Amino acid sequence: MALRNLVVLAAAVLASAESGEKVPRQAPTGTAAWAAAHSKAAAALSKLSQQDKINIVTGVGWDKGPCVGNTSPVNSIRYPQLCLQDGPLGIRFGTGSTAFTPGIHAASTWDVDLIRQRGVYLGQEAKGCGVHVILGPAPGALGKNPTGGRNWEGFGVDPYLSGIATAETIEGLQSSGVQATVKHYLVNEQELNRETMSSNVDDRTIHELYLWPFADAVHSNVASVMCSYNKINGTWACENDKVLNGLLKKELGFQGYVVSDWNAQHTTNGAANGGMDMTMPGSDFNGRNVLWGPQLNNAVNGGQVQRSRLDDMVKRILAGWYLLGQDQGYPAINIKANVQGNHKENVRAVARDGTVLLTNDGILPLKNPRKIALVGSAAVTNPQGMNACTDKGCNTGALGMGWGSGSVNYPYFVSPHDALRARAQADGATVTLQSSDSTSNVQSTVSGADVAIVVITANSGEGYITVEGNAGDRNNLDPWHNGNQLVQAVAQANKNVVVVVHSTGPVILETILNTPGVRAVVWGGLPSSENGNAMVDILYGVVSPNGKLPYTIAKSASDYGTAPSRGDDNFKEGLFIDYRHFDNAKIEPRFEFGFGLSYTNFTYSDLTVTSNAKSGPATGSTIPGGPADLWENVATVTVSVKNTGGVAGAEVPQLYITLPSSAPSTPPKQLRGFAKLKLAPNASGTATFNLRRRDLSYWDTARQNWVVPSGEFGVSVGASSRDIRLTGKITV
Ligand SMILES: *[C@@H]1O[C@H](CO)[C@@H](O)[C@H](O)[C@H]1NC(C)=O
Ligand SMILES: *[C@@H]1O[C@H](CO)[C@@H](O)[C@H](O)[C@H]1NC(C)=O
Ligand SMILES: *[C@@H]1O[C@H](CO)[C@@H](O)[C@H](O)[C@H]1NC(C)=O
Repeated sequence: MALRNLVVLAAAVLASAESGEKVPRQAPTGTAAWAAAHSKAAAALSKLSQQDKINIVTGVGWDKGPCVGNTSPVNSIRYPQLCLQDGPLGIRFGTGSTAFTPGIHAASTWDVDLIRQRGVYLGQEAKGCGVHVILGPAPGALGKNPTGGRNWEGFGVDPYLSGIATAETIEGLQSSGVQATVKHYLVNEQELNRETMSSNVDDRTIHELYLWPFADAVHSNVASVMCSYNKINGTWACENDKVLNGLLKKELGFQGYVVSDWNAQHTTNGAANGGMDMTMPGSDFNGRNVLWGPQLNNAVNGGQVQRSRLDDMVKRILAGWYLLGQDQGYPAINIKANVQGNHKENVRAVARDGTVLLTNDGILPLKNPRKIALVGSAAVTNPQGMNACTDKGCNTGALGMGWGSGSVNYPYFVSPHDALRARAQADGATVTLQSSDSTSNVQSTVSGADVAIVVITANSGEGYITVEGNAGDRNNLDPWHNGNQLVQAVAQANKNVVVVVHSTGPVILETILNTPGVRAVVWGGLPSSENGNAMVDILYGVVSPNGKLPYTIAKSASDYGTAPSRGDDNFKEGLFIDYRHFDNAKIEPRFEFGFGLSYTNFTYSDLTVTSNAKSGPATGSTIPGGPADLWENVATVTVSVKNTGGVAGAEVPQLYITLPSSAPSTPPKQLRGFAKLKLAPNASGTATFNLRRRDLSYWDTARQNWVVPSGEFGVSVGASSRDIRLTGKITV
């Protein structure tokens, strides 16, 4: 039973003497829980007619029920009208639910406790609304293309970080009784032509990057997996036998069901035989083109789809329902229920702790400024209303999330101006506002102010909405609304400029960094409803900044070496995405993966390494997630971190592994551990990184297995992927 790979000691350090030590988390016991759920499902199956079975696997059609996805009830087994609802950060179309922070921002906290709590709370809200299946989390897109429209819904571009965040989220969601759906499976890395293009990806890259977080999801007993719109090696994801039956169900031992993305099914028999288990919404968006329902009935009667395959679909779907105990006393469906509780506390904490300080010459934290200037259209709530744009399909006013089906209504919104004005009032200071991006008169707003805060944005979303000419994916990595020119104009008139950036992903900041007078840059990410509060908490040093980048910010967009493809994408960069590429190609990033400053300093010491890792292939029997021994701890690394600065803060020590040269061409280093240590001044904490067998393995395409290579593994621990403080080695 593996400890989760982080925070165990960190959690112990955090816990005060009164509250005692936290109990280390344990990996879920998937096999037994699924076996019990499947035996209930098999018993129920014997009571079903063929029509009942068809009803369980087929959505009722677009816009025909209370949820974005619905199936028909089956009274004989007291099976309800199943409700499936977007999405990863809240209850879509809810009016009484929380707008949690987007996945990318949760990831930038690197705080598994906050990420898990976010999952627990979202699960409670979903259950409170009678939603059986929440359509999240969304670790695919991983984000190999920095402009990718939906990267913000996921947990960043590193599979290990994304995998941990995915596991914590699913365990949190499902502990609240709601079925999680991990999506979009698989290699759905762009919005451009997502419904026609093929992602052609080699076997090793699939395993080590894109499949990795889905393996974590399966290991955490995710109830369902959503197949994506794109093709993989020329075959639609939702009828791809190799990807669904091969990788997911056989190799990863997935016991739940595969649900189509909405209208991602293309054929009746291909989908059934390729491994899809539920079609959604059951028709196209015009209510036509029903591919299962009566068609599937005919295919089963005609023998093109085996009866046993239909039974398998049904058992998998019912097993998910039983696994979560949804056969007992589940609330009635009410998407508009008020279910927020105290969940805004999680939004605020994640918004604050996911904020990354990029540069600071000492102006921050602010030292009791009297006159504050605030500039930018993103400094205020959208003047048309915080939820004025359908599915957040505009970039008007302050930015808290991207656009598309993965967005939700804000129940309230605290803009930078709201929060700053409140703070200034309490301090007896004044705020002067220019709530536009116009450069022409900004001088009068900012001249004479003790500090001029400029808020800029970059936005992206799902491709069915085009915003300011961006059809989902961003057209480039520049700030929107002439953000560079706005900062330059402010800096002409004021030499104490702080730039706050709200963005769905990396932005090229060179112009801003080269502008004299810009004294600090704060990466505000996507802070949802708590946008302004998070900003003020950081600017005023209510907390020391403690977020770290979950992707690289380059000096130039071309440095990434990847961009959405016009036609099929051959993924020829292979394993070398984001920092793996920058390290390998020896390109200096502007701010590397894992980077983030604070108001205090941390020193690292006392690296210890213990290992009983053995070289060779995984040999365990298959449990949810793959061979059991892949998930066992085989080595432990510890480091001591001391807060040597003057204020309380939190540090994210990161462990990167370099595989021995006996492993074929591999990225120079790969994240394989992290912890978050909250430390008072002068306090020390210990980070313990438990390395599982999978963390030391590569995918051997010839053996079709994970293999621990023999030789010397480099161990690098530091404050980012490039700020390595201590090194060691593991010899296998
Ligand atoms: C896709 O094709 C590549 C190249 O032939 C192969 O390595 C990989 O295993 C294939 N993957 C899938 C899922 O078919
Ligand atoms: C952190 O260390 C740097 C470099 O040694 C030093 O200039 C700075 O004053 C320190 N900051 C704090 C808050 O101690
Ligand atoms: C931290 O340690 C230094 C040196 O021993 C001491 O001067 C300082 O007062 C300590 N600070 C706190 C907050 O304990």
